[in-house]
Amino acid sequence: MSQTAELDRAFGVSGVLAFEDGVDGLTIAHLHGAGGRASVCLQGAHVFDWQVSGVEMPVLWLSPQAQFKPGKSIRGGTPVCWPWFGPHASNPNFPAHGFARTSAWRVVGGGADEDDQAWLTLALETGTASSVMWPYSSELELTVRAGATLSMSLVTRNTGDGAFTLGEALHTYFRISDIESVSVHGLDSCDYWDTVGGVERKTQHEEIRFNAETDRVYIDTSATCVIEDSGLRRRIRIDKTGSLSTVVWNPWTAKAERMGDLGQPAGWREFLCVESANAWDNRLIVRPGEVRALNVKYTVELM
Ligand code: BG6
Repeated sequence: MSQTAELDRAFGVSGVLAFEDGVDGLTIAHLHGAGGRASVCLQGAHVFDWQVSGVEMPVLWLSPQAQFKPGKSIRGGTPVCWPWFGPHASNPNFPAHGFARTSAWRVVGGGADEDDQAWLTLALETGTASSVMWPYSSELELTVRAGATLSMSLVTRNTGDGAFTLGEALHTYFRISDIESVSVHGLDSCDYWDTVGGVERKTQHEEIRFNAETDRVYIDTSATCVIEDSGLRRRIRIDKTGSLSTVVWNPWTAKAERMGDLGQPAGWREFLCVESANAWDNRLIVRPGEVRALNVKYTVELM
């Protein structure tokens, strides 16, 4: 029996959760909940699509040049950054944003919950293949709940006998009408590290608007953020718990050209990353036996 058929037999629920063979041997899970549907690539536990019934445009952005390949992170959706955020603290050869987003995760549960949302839980055990990069014993789970809202819960468990420092993010690319037509609310008065052209600590005043490359780590904030998009006439609300950093990123022209996989002629204009994280000053010390959960919930409101 193929892996997909086995997954369908073990976890599939008719009309709610189904598995499909993707390209290059990758497996995709499709979740159909009340009011919306999502797709998840088991490599990376990567939610790459979420669409809400009655809302025209997908809520998540997926690059037209996204590649579904073993060992390659998908450009768009929600990459899981773990166990570090950005470059590794001491070894520049280790992959940016950690190895979870390119690792093979295992399905441990799925179905429909009492609210008729479709759910799926994926697990990643670390400490063998990844031990050169991560010499700790830990378990990681991502639970996705999809329907009219999308929720994700990233749970880290320290199963070893020493503490470790953890950086993490649910690095979501949101589909927007145009970067110059949106604003982000919720971070007024918040301090952030501005990382464009050097690193400088600044304080946010009022909402965020965009007219140049933006790459900021807002710290010490558990605030709900709202992306207001006058072009698509919708608001995307980002609620979170267990996360004290919010990363706001758009590469703008020159960085997008260097990256080369954001779609032509100006794919970068159509997304904004608002990432719920524990990064920089807010990295976590996870002690033996401790469990830490980073939870997000996305809601769309039409204007
Ligand atoms: C963001 C960082 O979180 O991720 C940016 O703040 C980075 O600096 C971006 O360019 C994309 O990273 P990657 O590794 O997926 O190209």
